[in-house]
Amino acid sequence: MNAIEIKNISKNFDGLKAIDNLSLDIPENSVFAILGPNGAGKTTVINILSMLLKPDKGTVKILGFDIMKESKKVRELVGLTLQYACVDEALTAKQNLLVFGQLLGLSRKEAKIRGNELLKEFNLEDAANKPIQKFSGGMRRRLDLAVSLIDRPKLIFLDEPTTGLDPRTRNQMWSTIKNLVKKGSTVLLTTQYLEEADQLSDEIAIMDEGKVIAKGTAESLKKEYKAKNLDEVFLKITGDGTDGKNNNYEELNMIKEVV
Ligand SMILES: Nc1ncnc2c1ncn2[C@@H]1O[C@H](COP(=O)(O)OP(=O)(O)O)[C@@H](O)[C@H]1O
Ligand SMILES: [Mg+2]
Repeated sequence: MNAIEIKNISKNFDGLKAIDNLSLDIPENSVFAILGPNGAGKTTVINILSMLLKPDKGTVKILGFDIMKESKKVRELVGLTLQYACVDEALTAKQNLLVFGQLLGLSRKEAKIRGNELLKEFNLEDAANKPIQKFSGGMRRRLDLAVSLIDRPKLIFLDEPTTGLDPRTRNQMWSTIKNLVKKGSTVLLTTQYLEEADQLSDEIAIMDEGKVIAKGTAESLKKEYKAKNLDEVFLKITGDGTDGKNNNYEELNMIKEVV
């Protein structure tokens, strides 16, 4: 079954086509990566799926429910993952997990147990009793994700979860994401990192200018475009630089090197 079915959605911002008649099926219990350069429309897709934005046209079904007609049901299923960065700065990591756990309907005892599991999983045990305002960017990102996972949502949206993270924290994030899928979740993430899409995802959609320009597994894409890696796939699809579209490729490639 598909966790998400997107049919012919478009979204314009003052005449700019951010999403241009995009369709995409995302299978259940997998990691699906939307890969694309800055401005490709990745965040707009996530915002539509999260019901923060309405598409101008088209339909979206999440876990079988239409997001326009059955939004309440969808909100229940997708859970807290949408409410990123809702942690209270004055509270410690441990207190935040406890508060959110109880808000989500766990008993105090269950919330404590779940909180401790997550602190361990995200390598935040040493920082458990520090107030959030003292956290580094990487720690903060890990706590945000930990909070969003308290109630083990079936579907998780992560918009560039590893952008700007150091390699160690990024690897930790990858293994956490893989674990989530092992436990039955579906993860939809966006990334600008070719390597990340290659390593982490079961399936990849490459986006450019609001459209899906290629889709498949990393292996099938490389085969289809007779390419050694995803850089080459992207390059082959968007042109060799003579049509002025090479900028995107250069941008992606540059970002990959930073990783
Ligand atoms: N709220 C907005 N108002 C106007 N333009 C926007 C808005 N959000 C996104 N855009 C434009 O839509 C395009 C796609 O943006 P976005 O979805 O953020 O791309 P990505 O996440 O792939 O970098 C970009 O050209 C961006 O400038
Ligand atoms: Mg974005």
